[in-house]
Amino acid sequence: MRYKAINPGVFIANRSRLSKMFLPNSLAVVNANDVPQTNADGTMAMVPNSDLFYLTGVEQEQTILLLYPEADEEKHRELLFLREPTGELELWEGHKLTKEEARAATGVQNVHWLSEFPRLFHRLMCECEHVYLNSNEHKRAVIETETRDARFTAETQRRYPLHDYHRLAPLLHRTRAIKSQAEVALLRKACEITEKGFRRVLQFTRPGVLEREVEAEYVHEFIRQGGRFAYQPIIATGINACCLHSISNASVCRKGELLLLDVAAAYANYNADLTRTIPVSGHFSRRQKRVYNSVLRVLRQCITGLTPGKKIKDWQKEAEQMIEKELVDLGLLSLRQIKGQDPEHPAFKKYFMHGVGHPLGLDVHDVGLTTQPIEAGWVMTVEPGIYIREEGFAVRLENDVLVTDQGPVDLMAGIPIEAEEIEGLMNGKPGVPELDGHARGVTGNGHQGRTGKRLLSK
Ligand code: GLY
Ligand code: MN
Ligand code: MN
Repeated sequence: MRYKAINPGVFIANRSRLSKMFLPNSLAVVNANDVPQTNADGTMAMVPNSDLFYLTGVEQEQTILLLYPEADEEKHRELLFLREPTGELELWEGHKLTKEEARAATGVQNVHWLSEFPRLFHRLMCECEHVYLNSNEHKRAVIETETRDARFTAETQRRYPLHDYHRLAPLLHRTRAIKSQAEVALLRKACEITEKGFRRVLQFTRPGVLEREVEAEYVHEFIRQGGRFAYQPIIATGINACCLHSISNASVCRKGELLLLDVAAAYANYNADLTRTIPVSGHFSRRQKRVYNSVLRVLRQCITGLTPGKKIKDWQKEAEQMIEKELVDLGLLSLRQIKGQDPEHPAFKKYFMHGVGHPLGLDVHDVGLTTQPIEAGWVMTVEPGIYIREEGFAVRLENDVLVTDQGPVDLMAGIPIEAEEIEGLMNGKPGVPELDGHARGVTGNGHQGRTGKRLLSK
């Protein structure tokens, strides 16, 4: 594990919050994710199942959690099933959890090998009345492959057709939406690592660097800090930034262009989500700065607008109205155009066509209750943008914000954002943390320095 072990009390509390929502005499099952296959005998790295991680902290493949809070026998109230580590398995794949390690890490006292699952599961199915089974539910998810949980559901319903089945997902969404203090601390750590990567890239970027070289700077910093990419990094120079999820990262960053960086770290499976837009040559043009400051004003007002009780759709509407006004001030829309627009296709959508934010947590687009009023304890991204294809650039800014009853807490408040601050840092103004040679723009391919001076000859 690349991160500091999490106190098992976090998972014990999460299981307790979830179990309290069950109907009387209920059994719930959560499965690990599959290890996805590629070609021949290849596999991809398994992405831990967020629900299983939330409830146990276990990342290991094939794991199954059973929760039966009112089981007749106390030893059946929480059960964890693991792959049995054999010499052969560990020879190829490395260490697998022992029962003692699993007890210590999860707080689940009754740990069994998977071979015992069929007998125990059958017994508990004969005792329980309601069964909660898990499913991956997200309004934008396109699910083409059957998950381990989905296969388990199909098989269980075939074998026990007369039980009273329920979806576990809505209950998990409700509890996962409200972040505990421990979860906020992990999100803060992900934000800190993200900030280190961004500061490194501020010093590295100059005309002539490749988007993929910028990606390499981030990956170096994130991994050395105990993190990893939270999602496919979006490193998009010039017109590339007008594609919202541009992930090829293959172009050259040219003088005069803006570089959009939607790049963040995950730590202990908790994700940050940051976007900054910086001038490749270290200075914004007047026009770029005007657009930048429009987006920054909207970002700040949308952060302030994240208040408990408001619906996300109303918060979105507020953002759209602010953007619309900024677009008029920037000369991109006229009042006449707005007056005559089809309300189903408002004119601002040409320049701002996405949601202003989403829940964040163990998933980047986290599960949550996006049709319900905002609640204290949610963590939301705030990410307005203006995309001007005809001028060949875009600006998006994105921070992560904890909603509280005392007002929003910006978890990224320390990450440089003012245009002048970005310019200062890119031009070596004091206050920049000392980094090694790579981060000072020495890329090894002999490209031009930001000042036009050659940094390395080859
Ligand atoms: N990084 C993807 C997003 O901002 O939603
Ligand atoms: Mn993002
Ligand atoms: Mn986002």
